[in-house]
Amino acid sequence: MVRLKSLENNYSNHSLINTQAIQLISEVAFDANQQVYLIGGYVRDLILERKSDDLDFVTVGSGIDLAKKVGEKLKVKQVSFFKNFGTAMINFQNKEYQFVGARKESYRENSRNPIVENGTLEDDQNRRDFTINALAISLNKNDFGQLIDPFNGINDLAAKLIKTPLNPDITFSDDPLRMLRAIRFASQLNFKIEKLTFESIIKNANRIEIISQERVTEELQKIIKSNSPSYGFKLLEKSGILEIIFPEFTKLKGVEIINGKGHKDNFYHTLTVLDNIVPFSKNNVWLRWSALLHDIAKPPTKRFSKKSGWTFHGHEDKGARMVPQIFKNLKLPLDNKMKYVQKLVQLHLRPIALTKEEITDSAIRRLLFDAGDDLEDLMKLCRADITSKNKDKVKKYLQRFDDVESKLKTLEDQDKIRNWQPPITGEEIMNTFGIKPSKEVGILKHAIKEAILDGLVKNNPKDAYDYILKRGVELGLKIKK
Ligand code: CTP
Repeated sequence: MVRLKSLENNYSNHSLINTQAIQLISEVAFDANQQVYLIGGYVRDLILERKSDDLDFVTVGSGIDLAKKVGEKLKVKQVSFFKNFGTAMINFQNKEYQFVGARKESYRENSRNPIVENGTLEDDQNRRDFTINALAISLNKNDFGQLIDPFNGINDLAAKLIKTPLNPDITFSDDPLRMLRAIRFASQLNFKIEKLTFESIIKNANRIEIISQERVTEELQKIIKSNSPSYGFKLLEKSGILEIIFPEFTKLKGVEIINGKGHKDNFYHTLTVLDNIVPFSKNNVWLRWSALLHDIAKPPTKRFSKKSGWTFHGHEDKGARMVPQIFKNLKLPLDNKMKYVQKLVQLHLRPIALTKEEITDSAIRRLLFDAGDDLEDLMKLCRADITSKNKDKVKKYLQRFDDVESKLKTLEDQDKIRNWQPPITGEEIMNTFGIKPSKEVGILKHAIKEAILDGLVKNNPKDAYDYILKRGVELGLKIKK
């Protein structure tokens, strides 16, 4: 049980209820002879003392009519209506105020079916997803601030429990996305899912297939953004939903043993990497995606040989090649965010390789060149990838990464390889030899890049020019007089 500071029956004096806007809504509703309640996530978060800027109001009667009147009084420029769903929205002082008429049927976001039947507050609370999301606070004059909690949601908040108000089979059949929401809330709030509720998720898991990919992915993103994403993923896996929505990821699970030799379970390893990266990726969900996907190609590249035991050769290349399809399937953006994830997956073994061998300057320059602006994020991923339970080993590996980083810094200060621009352009090459765009120009551009990365030529126009003259002549080109 947690102790909730705001665990009360009446919230009339609470600073988040006693606001000018809410008082005004209460008055407008009174004048219109309409009951109005604050309901759902805002009430839940107020009690949990979490910040929320989305306020949902339910009224017995028309939500749209009430919103119009409130909009006039608040002098807002615009009230948005969604007639089919009987909802209206006002933006006021950076907060969203959403109004809806109480209904007898369920709250399916983006449902194609228009609402049909109006209902009472009780009907409305019955059809919400979880007891902790069915809490309402009256804004009516006679009992302003009174908590209305027919399903003992407040106890579930204190017990940190996700539970449906009705038989879970009914609640989930109203909207199967709620199964994913249950896991998302558990992950965000660090709550447990009540036994019968979770059993029903297992039973109904395949119903998630009727939900649009966009809505599924939105919940998945929220799980990944939570503070303990591994918890959400374990629930997804246990419920059977992960297999449906992200089958590549479930393939990481399991340990095979041959001749007494096993490999690590890459599912749990990946989840540890994901949790490890959380403190370093507060505003970068894509870095978390790179942690999720860094070993995604281990199953298809897995081999066993007597000599080497288990190997996963080329899993970084194959993994990088798998990223676009995974992003496409999940309807994630296919722009530079995908490219960033792909790049980190591709490069995730490189810094480790640098800790193992005698490090050459050339290898360091190549990493600077390939990682460019994303070098720091790559190093965060590599550090997160150390999941050994042996503290001495962890210390040793981290120390090696410190060494690699200091070498990277020294060489970058000296050679300026990150965000490298060729010191000599294709145009200059063509002018030098009096040639048109051709294969030779490409060969020379490639040669100068390689020579600089190998440290054979200094990264400046003069040395680059001299080198190009020499190589051009070797290729049979004539220097233009
Ligand atoms: N709701 C529901 N079933 C859904 C979606 C929403 O019953 N599938 C109800 C819940 O009462 C929920 C409220 O609508 O509290 C508002 O939904 P939403 O804004 O999606 O979620 P919040 O609970 O506010 O949480 P968050 O803002 O974190 O998504």
